[in-house]
Amino acid sequence: MNFKISSREIVMANRKDIDPSVIASVDIGTSKIACVVGRVNEDKDLEILGVGSALSEGVKKCTIINIEEASKVISRAIEEAEMMAGLEISSVYVGISGIHTDGVNTKSVVAVNNKNREVTQDEVKRAIDIAIERVAPSDREVLHVIPQQYVIDDQDGIRNPIGMNGTKLGAYVRVITANFTVIQNIIKAISKANVDISDFILGILGEAELLLSDEEKDLGTVLVDIGAGTTEIVGYYNSSLMFNGALNIGGMEITSDISSIYKLSLQQSEKLKKMYGHAWPPAVSETETIEVQTVNKRIKTIKRKELAEVINARAEEIFESIKKTLTSSGMYDFANAGVVLTGGTALLQGIDQVAEEILDLPCRIAFIENVGGIADAVKSPIFSKAVGILYYPIKKGNIILPSQKPKGPSTLEKLKDFFNNFFFGE
Ligand SMILES: Nc1ncnc2c1ncn2[C@@H]1O[C@H](COP(=O)(O)OP(=O)(O)OP(=O)(O)O)[C@@H](O)[C@H]1O
Ligand SMILES: [Mg+2]
Repeated sequence: MNFKISSREIVMANRKDIDPSVIASVDIGTSKIACVVGRVNEDKDLEILGVGSALSEGVKKCTIINIEEASKVISRAIEEAEMMAGLEISSVYVGISGIHTDGVNTKSVVAVNNKNREVTQDEVKRAIDIAIERVAPSDREVLHVIPQQYVIDDQDGIRNPIGMNGTKLGAYVRVITANFTVIQNIIKAISKANVDISDFILGILGEAELLLSDEEKDLGTVLVDIGAGTTEIVGYYNSSLMFNGALNIGGMEITSDISSIYKLSLQQSEKLKKMYGHAWPPAVSETETIEVQTVNKRIKTIKRKELAEVINARAEEIFESIKKTLTSSGMYDFANAGVVLTGGTALLQGIDQVAEEILDLPCRIAFIENVGGIADAVKSPIFSKAVGILYYPIKKGNIILPSQKPKGPSTLEKLKDFFNNFFFGE
């Protein structure tokens, strides 16, 4: 292999033999760490069995800054999910997010020079290897290599080129990378929590599989997860992933604004935001007031409309940044079906109106619909990433149920499968 896969090699080698139909995920968020455990049923649907969540410690802007503290919180979230599910978790899919992640669109061309002039896995692998090498610096971890389309001679728009005839194969792919050190710290924190890592997944990719329809991905849609500390963005067009990015801004900034303007504790500001906050002032009455206690124990009367104006200013800033990111990447012009919001800040009243006004695109707030089991326990957008991380390997066909396996593969075969999925299963 010509690119960095060392973290994946480590975690795959450690993987224990477990019931493959039971899978679990960990989402390391700025405000909370969540663990979701589920089962893949015979129809390849995801049934939620348990969920656990604990307030983040040792995490800043969804990056681990204290391994010891973070691993304790990870353990707490896992234990809670285990309790609810009534089973033990030995391995987790880990979500990767934050501004240390990156993605680049790249392309490569290789000759099809076997005697039949037929594209085989060999040509595809060569084309993808070259594409990766072009854009993945050695100090970064390659998280996903996602083919967008293949071109054989002059014919473009090909999804599966294997078996087709031609003289040259072009591959257009998006290569998603993450900071190597950040991944190493996640591996340490997870292993201290005594679970193995099934794989790493860019969390928002899982959310896109979970929350966007095929039609939206085809027409062109942007999915935005606004959490506490970060805002993550992915864009699809023509059923292909065209863009991914992250910004260091989220609901936490709205809470800090409330705290500094009204001299309230962060805890109280958070409560005030969740209970009475509105991001769209025209929808709030001029006369409504709220009584709150300041940090120095005074009772203060706040006009709800004024609170909405404070929130609106920051919400507008968030969407201005999103628009700038989408415009500079070129994705904005392809978002024909609009924007879809998730993450905890999507629960802020009026956020969709701000999105529509600033982005000048239709907006909907996404709620998880396509999972079974105790789905109600994960219906809040704060869990969409943890559920999406579970959903991703199912959607990509990377979970093989015992009934579908001819016989148990050796570790070497499992690793081979893993690499095949890595190249062709995306
Ligand atoms: N009802 C609500 N109204 C407004 N904001 C809310 C509401 N519920 C949650 N939030 C905000 O959502 C944020 C938490 O969302 P989420 O759990 O998705 O973030 P996270 O995953 O911990 O952080 P990140 O993804 O940024 O690392 C907090 O800023 C919180 O204030
Ligand atoms: Mg999050």
